[in-house]
Amino acid sequence: MNEYRGTQQSPEVVSAECRALLAEWSEQLLAASDLSELERIRVAVIGKNGILTQKLKELPNYSPENRREIGAELNATRAFFEKALNGRHLQLESAAFDETMKEEAIDVTLPCRPRMAGKRHLLTQVSDELTSYFCSRGFRVFEGPEVDTEFHCFDGLNMPAHHPARQEQDTLYIKDAPGMLLRVHTSTMQIRALSTCGLPIRGISIGSVFRNDAVDATHTPLFHQIEGVVVEPGITMAHMKYCLLDLLSFLFNTDLCEMAKRGENIPVRFRPSFFPFTEPSVEVDCCCSRGSDGLKLSLDGNWMEILGCGMIHPNVFKNCGVEFFADGTPAQGFAFGVGVERIAMLKYGVTDIRHFYDGDMRWLQHYG
Ligand code: PHE
Repeated sequence: MNEYRGTQQSPEVVSAECRALLAEWSEQLLAASDLSELERIRVAVIGKNGILTQKLKELPNYSPENRREIGAELNATRAFFEKALNGRHLQLESAAFDETMKEEAIDVTLPCRPRMAGKRHLLTQVSDELTSYFCSRGFRVFEGPEVDTEFHCFDGLNMPAHHPARQEQDTLYIKDAPGMLLRVHTSTMQIRALSTCGLPIRGISIGSVFRNDAVDATHTPLFHQIEGVVVEPGITMAHMKYCLLDLLSFLFNTDLCEMAKRGENIPVRFRPSFFPFTEPSVEVDCCCSRGSDGLKLSLDGNWMEILGCGMIHPNVFKNCGVEFFADGTPAQGFAFGVGVERIAMLKYGVTDIRHFYDGDMRWLQHYG
């Protein structure tokens, strides 16, 4: 026995209704402008309580004769709706994708933002050149602190307490650290190297030094020096002269040693001077003139002091505890100190020392 519940519509009526609903849903789907709206329509039609779902649930209420026909009609409607829904879904999805592509589009043909490449600072270049020059001649490289003791800076170097360089107008002392100061020269490294490495020794040290100087075209409170020390058996002042002439030959591309050997007058002179830590002491001047391609060594220019040097004072050896070589002969050797800025200025025609520290990008690009 069959029990029928609910409205009993004929298959024709159901079919007409389905067609009307499909037409309505198709319009809604077309009108939907985004995926969330589409989802709302899907839920309203075939969601758990959707119109079509509801109708399918009512199927058992129909008479067996009508159920098959109405069931087929409802399933076809559902299939049709799903097809339309999926089609619209694809459309909207690709429209959304196109939109994002448009928004995030990158024009790969645009020129890139200008990017400046860093260059090595002129002082770094000159320091590197000097380091490789000295290394190729058997020197080792020492490094030491910029804040140092009075012993390394003065006492060890035979500069007694009353020496004018120790006055505060020349030296920058550290306020809360008695006896500590910013090194006024790299000669501190003579003391450090001699007392830690012993004899024989052949080394250089490059670094910043500090003086309480007013700033002008040739003075800044910070500048750089390269210090050299050679203490080996049999070393004399002749070796020092050769060593420094060879250095200047390298720096200025002129074979001064060869010129000297030929007995020619050379544009370099060794002038007696005084340093407490060398005896005898010498200052070296170069005669430079400005040619079309920069500065060159030549006798018809101006004399310029370029470095200080001398035979290391016996008191320095004593202060470092290295008075004798292993064979018992007294320690003997030379030391020299060169301003790195001075070399760079001469070699590259820089006229004002302040340019090194201005940080002007154009200058750095040019000299880099
Ligand atoms: N330290 C000296 C200066 O600063 C230079 C120097 C170094 C002189 C080594 C002699 C020997 O002027």
